[in-house]
Amino acid sequence: MKFNLVVLPGDGIGPEITDEAVRVLQAVGEKFGHNFDLRYGLMGGVAIDERGTSLPPETLKMSRNCDAVLLGAVGGPKWDDPQAKDRPEDGMLALRKKLGLFANLRPVKTLPMLVNSTNLKPEVVEGVDFVFVRELTGGLYFGRPKKRWQTPKGRLGVDTMLYSEQEIARIVRVGFELARGRSKKLVSVDKANVLEVSRLWRQVAIEVSQNYPDVELEHMLVDACAMRLIQNPKHFDVLVSENTFGDILTDEASMLAGSLGMLPSASLAGVPQEGVRIFGLYEPIHGSAPRRAGLNMANPIATILSIAMMLRYSCGLAKEAQAVETAVTEVLEEGYRTYDIMDEGKTKVGTKEMGQLIAGKVRG
Ligand code: IPM
Ligand code: MG
Repeated sequence: MKFNLVVLPGDGIGPEITDEAVRVLQAVGEKFGHNFDLRYGLMGGVAIDERGTSLPPETLKMSRNCDAVLLGAVGGPKWDDPQAKDRPEDGMLALRKKLGLFANLRPVKTLPMLVNSTNLKPEVVEGVDFVFVRELTGGLYFGRPKKRWQTPKGRLGVDTMLYSEQEIARIVRVGFELARGRSKKLVSVDKANVLEVSRLWRQVAIEVSQNYPDVELEHMLVDACAMRLIQNPKHFDVLVSENTFGDILTDEASMLAGSLGMLPSASLAGVPQEGVRIFGLYEPIHGSAPRRAGLNMANPIATILSIAMMLRYSCGLAKEAQAVETAVTEVLEEGYRTYDIMDEGKTKVGTKEMGQLIAGKVRG
């Protein structure tokens, strides 16, 4: 089959990790007889530098007209000026919003051979396997008012955590649907003891749950959730939360998998369903790690696993997705590690070598 894909490498380590993900994708194409037609676009800091805006119109246009988008990472100290009108992250947020990608799926899995690369006790992390569903186009990131201003008494700043019941219902539904296909347990994360928006969230979650009598719904306060993720991560199977809570909790959860460099993500405009191809944007959950950029150090696995998600959800290629995931596991089993997951007695490799090893396994 033929697929039209857009690649937005972005900033920092973005170009290096997307190169390796593309290498693996090409290996999939060769092995399974698919044609992945790639178009490259500018987004983030590099787009500010070259085109004067973090999300150039042609990037948005090509992203609207493709089967899926692969994104590296955006941001860096060069564009960190607090007075800047446009930041690399703005491009990314605008892209998510304009493409309607409200459902961000972040699977967290502790691979058996990485148990000792985590900072937690083996018995705590062994077998961890859950999916975090993060709402991606609402909440504090987008709510208005959102500004800083001067008053006679000093400066003020405000962001607004705003959600409509429709926005809550559609993301909670994604959680329920995923839970249905897994162990039928959904944890909805909120701060309903303090926030009005969370009280609405909880109410709507309960309403939506009426349509899913087969799924057990548990409400958990976000602070307690942060604690439980470390105390007993195996408690979780599917979680759903608003945007900011999900951002924070998934960085925390990455430590269960050994490194931020291990977690992929899919941003979708609806519920993923078996046998239905859905448009999506795929990116690692980590940032652009400017200090690691250009050093052939960064772990490309999160991006490569994002390719697997792309194959599964946007290309309808489950077998190929599995082949990528198996290739990652095999290379790790053979003892190859990037610096972030390095452990005694293992073989340290760089970004490129890791990509080559995984692509080699895919080819078989
Ligand atoms: C993420 C990142 C982004 C976010 C940043 C880079 C805007 O942290 O995808 O988790 O906060 O959504
Ligand atoms: Mg984040």
